[in-house]
Amino acid sequence: MKLADFSTIHLPAVEEEMVSFLNQHTSEEKLKESMLYSIHAGGKRIRPLLLLSTVAAFNESIDTTTYQVAAALEMVHTYSLIHDDLPAMDDDDLRRGKPTNHKVYGEALAILAGDGLLTAAFQLLSMTHLANSPKLLLLQQLAISAGTQGMVAGQAADIAGESQQLSLEELKFIHERKTGRLIHYALLAGGVLANQPEEVLASLQKLANHLGLAFQIRDDLLDMVSTTEALGKTAGKDEKMEKTTYPRLLGIEETKEALKKEMDVANRLIDQLEKNVCLFNGQLLRQFIQQFSV
Ligand code: IPE
Ligand code: IPE
Ligand code: MG
Ligand code: MG
Ligand code: MG
Repeated sequence: MKLADFSTIHLPAVEEEMVSFLNQHTSEEKLKESMLYSIHAGGKRIRPLLLLSTVAAFNESIDTTTYQVAAALEMVHTYSLIHDDLPAMDDDDLRRGKPTNHKVYGEALAILAGDGLLTAAFQLLSMTHLANSPKLLLLQQLAISAGTQGMVAGQAADIAGESQQLSLEELKFIHERKTGRLIHYALLAGGVLANQPEEVLASLQKLANHLGLAFQIRDDLLDMVSTTEALGKTAGKDEKMEKTTYPRLLGIEETKEALKKEMDVANRLIDQLEKNVCLFNGQLLRQFIQQFSV
């Protein structure tokens, strides 16, 4: 199946889970409005799509629970963007082609919208109709991926590294956490929902590490070579904030090579999964990687 068709079939249900959850479980109107503003602003939805594509790769059916786990992940991601854009962090005015949350609702409500989306994600996960054991694993892994060992740690290191010349090692530490860990969760959760054993989950984790790094290398590159119109967020922002990025460290050509290398390794890991795991079909995941070409 084409990834575009897969998205058209499944993304509306993920959207619906996020919106109906926030509508039903928010007691303050302005807070609800500001959370829904960022959710409705769109975005590529690559994390929920990766999760659903992983479930599909194991030939497992996609149901309401799958949509809810995917929705929880996208809620955490959306919170991370609202906070990433705050004046105290990257200080951005544009996100997903619209004014950033704090530009519309003010800083206080933007902070609370982020807090609300993060907390709501765990509430939604806790309410899914899963057996206790996979549910606990999914809750725990989301906390680890999003939290103080994962995305939040990466964001803290990213801010600490501003105006400093970081090494490639240090930059990778940031990228693996600020971006890699939520992508890692997408594949892991897909594997857990498809009832995969430990060793397959480990292979998915390896694949996710390369996918996540490729994705952030591409984000760094596009910040330098693309336009604000095409990105829906301010181009050239990394240079302005004096962030160390792949293209600033390696130059554009070497960055493209580094990206291609991560994509090639990821494709090879998908080949291996197809060889080793009965019924595994990597066609959707391969199309994902294809999209990362610049
Ligand atoms: C942006 O993520 C922040 C990064 C981690 C690179 P996306 O590029 O997935 O943003 P949306 O969700 O499409 O807006
Ligand atoms: C942000 O990385 C990663 C997050 C955890 C949100 P960036 O700061 O590079 O993301 P953009 O470029 O603003 O989307
Ligand atoms: Mg940032
Ligand atoms: Mg940013
Ligand atoms: Mg960026």
